[in-house]
Amino acid sequence: MNNQDETKVETVSKNSFNDQEQEVKTDNMSDQDKNTKEIKIEAKNKNGLGETWPEPIVRVQSLAESNLSTVPDRYIKPPSQRPQTTITNHQPEAAALNIPVIDLDSLFLGNEDDMKKISEACREWGFFQVINHGVKPELMDAARETWKSFFNLPVEDKEVHSNSPRTYEGYGSRLGVEKGAILDWNDYYFLHFRPLPLKDFNKWPSLPSNIREVTDEYGKELVKLGGRLMAILSSNLGLKEEQLQEAFGGDGVGACMRANYYPKCPQPELALGLSPHSDPGGITILLPDEQVTGLQVRHGDTWITVNPHPNAFIVNIGDQVQILSNSKYKSVEHRVTVNSEKERVSLAFFYNPKSDIPIQPMQQLVTSTMPPLYPPMTFDQYRLFIRTQGPRGKSLVESHIPPR
Ligand code: OGA
Ligand code: NI
Repeated sequence: MNNQDETKVETVSKNSFNDQEQEVKTDNMSDQDKNTKEIKIEAKNKNGLGETWPEPIVRVQSLAESNLSTVPDRYIKPPSQRPQTTITNHQPEAAALNIPVIDLDSLFLGNEDDMKKISEACREWGFFQVINHGVKPELMDAARETWKSFFNLPVEDKEVHSNSPRTYEGYGSRLGVEKGAILDWNDYYFLHFRPLPLKDFNKWPSLPSNIREVTDEYGKELVKLGGRLMAILSSNLGLKEEQLQEAFGGDGVGACMRANYYPKCPQPELALGLSPHSDPGGITILLPDEQVTGLQVRHGDTWITVNPHPNAFIVNIGDQVQILSNSKYKSVEHRVTVNSEKERVSLAFFYNPKSDIPIQPMQQLVTSTMPPLYPPMTFDQYRLFIRTQGPRGKSLVESHIPPR
């Protein structure tokens, strides 16, 4: 979603609806409401994502705090998607597996083993952890703590930042707009760092009092780390160091963050904190909750629980890098489980291509034996599917592969 798009929507909703889709919502109205003839007309932007959700929003935090002994039906996954039924990591060999840990200091000193390790991680796991990444542990802790405090504010204090499907910015409790969908057990806050015109402090929380300052500094550091990781991945793919970044649109890259809050869940075996998905963007840098595990990465037919390394970030390849690398690097499915003992907070930072330029396999990675696997598509077009459907495995990047 770019700025122009937003400006257009604002103007349109103030004036006539012109070429905009109109929708009259009467489903849940009482007769009396209908009689008042104050029928609400919802303006949708040209993407079809409107200002309102298909159903009233329920904060998962409120459910968790109401001491329910069972999970409401809306959060109960069908048996085949429940965490225990697909899990095979009770097997001893799977329990011993963990995603590779890369020391960025040693890599910058030219350690060949680390270069190999990161290359293998991107090809086989789509995930790795980084240590000695240059972001101060104090800043990581401060960011985690301020967001924990934010989510622990009373729900009413957060409602002022309530988000809509149009931009997703703000406080939200669902991804996707499909009516009747089974929902995930989380609340979140989504905000932009880059491009700069999208960064708007007014759309960030104002409490706790240090949250804007800490988040701003955190975002700046993560944009830098994102750039360094891009250079590493680029050389590792056999490209010039700056090439991947250029393909992302140089200074026009996007950076945004979703702070995820997974409240305690009375029946964690029936629900998921976040359904299986691959990340639609470029690369994701996750600050996990060090006290509470929950992130699981698909490795073959197994879900591997990630054990966070102290002061590490968890990095994963998103769909756009899979596309640019012509599938040498894999954007791997992952999901989040919940538990009944402890809430969990994570900060997912997304480093994305400029949203309106076509993304397609890099020319050097296309050969006669390895033809381009994906047609060009902008990130704006791509992301729209995710925003409409919510998290849905890897169906998107897979369906994007033209039939042979
Ligand atoms: C995400 C994500 C994992 C986590 O936000 O896309 O995969 O551990 N988060 O919260
Ligand atoms: Ni993710």
